[in-house]
Amino acid sequence: MLRNSSVSSSLPVAAAAAKVLEANWTGTATVPSRGLYPHQWSWDSAFIAIGLRHISALRARRELETLLAAQWGDGRVPHIVFNPGVPAGAYFPGPAFWRSSTAGATAGAPGGAETSGIVQPPVHALAAWLVHRADPVGSWRAGFLPRIYPRLLAWHRYLREERDLGGHGLAASLHPWEPGMDNSPCWDAPLARVIPAPADSFRRADLSHGAGADRPTDLDYGRYVALATAYRDRGYADTPSLKSPAHPFAVEDPGSNALFAASEHALAEIALALGADPQPHLRRAARITRALAGRLWSAADGLFLVRDLRADALVPQLSAAGLLPLAVPGLQPALAAALARTATGPHFAAGSGLIPSYDLTSPAFSPTRYWRGPAWFNVNWLLERGLRLHGYADRADALRAAAVRTAYATGFAEYADPHTGDPRGSRDFSWTAALTLDLLTPPDDREPPGGPRS
Ligand code: SER
Repeated sequence: MLRNSSVSSSLPVAAAAAKVLEANWTGTATVPSRGLYPHQWSWDSAFIAIGLRHISALRARRELETLLAAQWGDGRVPHIVFNPGVPAGAYFPGPAFWRSSTAGATAGAPGGAETSGIVQPPVHALAAWLVHRADPVGSWRAGFLPRIYPRLLAWHRYLREERDLGGHGLAASLHPWEPGMDNSPCWDAPLARVIPAPADSFRRADLSHGAGADRPTDLDYGRYVALATAYRDRGYADTPSLKSPAHPFAVEDPGSNALFAASEHALAEIALALGADPQPHLRRAARITRALAGRLWSAADGLFLVRDLRADALVPQLSAAGLLPLAVPGLQPALAAALARTATGPHFAAGSGLIPSYDLTSPAFSPTRYWRGPAWFNVNWLLERGLRLHGYADRADALRAAAVRTAYATGFAEYADPHTGDPRGSRDFSWTAALTLDLLTPPDDREPPGGPRS
């Protein structure tokens, strides 16, 4: 599947990336990293499947189906599916903290698996469609789309009906881990209202696996734990009621909602392939895209902002999440043009050629600390895709080359200093390897055209 491309020396890079995915495969899914993240993570698995399809479409299908087998009765796809074979202290917060099978029983948490109770961005339908397209014959033979489509429908229904807390068609995030960008400066103000759990009430496991300076602070962790505890103790209920007061943290994130819209477009393709009606999906995608523009667009900044639902105000922080609507096929051309300009302007144009996770010019920017500035490969993959989708092929090519070069040079690091390209976080990180494999594939081969039973 991997062919020669304009990215030089692609064969050693592809072989090294495939080796990472091999080493991180458990037999049914892929861990994001052997040390720091030893279970299955939701959006990681979607990105991993997108790369895995180039070396084994069978494993890519398995990756997604393993995740979706732990879906809750209410449709939510949990952000972690715990591997019972991993020692209890290897990750915090683990199954003993989330207690999904008991605390989540009313919300339909499965009895046979332990999971977290929060979610991550819905990139799964997009992943499922790309995985199907990589091997349509094998996919049809395995019954992949007919089996996975109802699960994806239930997942999107959950986001649409249970999580539209703002009432305008966008899914709300209830924890900074849900948009996947844990310690983004976008959360600083909304999180400041949350009283942190006492530092001696929990023990972080992440600091045994990486430099503390690359990770969120203890104060942030105290707040993450307090929020997750409160959500668990209300039975993971989403709708505020007399018994469950309003969520202490609730935001509309442009990145998660961009992926929600992009995945509705993918569901339309899947529906068409299955002989079902794609129109409801296209209508929903259009509604989310309109709500993004109506609720989160900042013309003055040339990108989308987070809305803090408790304050009902936009958060004036420029983060890469605000560029991700570029990955939405139906985005208005004028907004796509503005995003393409912002992505290559002074707030985001960094020395490594990669787009940082946060505004380079802000005093809150850090080149090393998790989501406060380092460049992440999934974000850059989405922006490469978005630039290409909206007709900025030259910029997409430059980003593609920078991503492949940096991923390989850093040993497939979790993230990189956006100025220097130096590695940060874990090495041998699965989505970095997987998305490198995808970027090595010529753009036309990444997404062959779809169609009925194709
Ligand atoms: N990203 C969080 C962690 O670091 C939770 O998914 O554990």
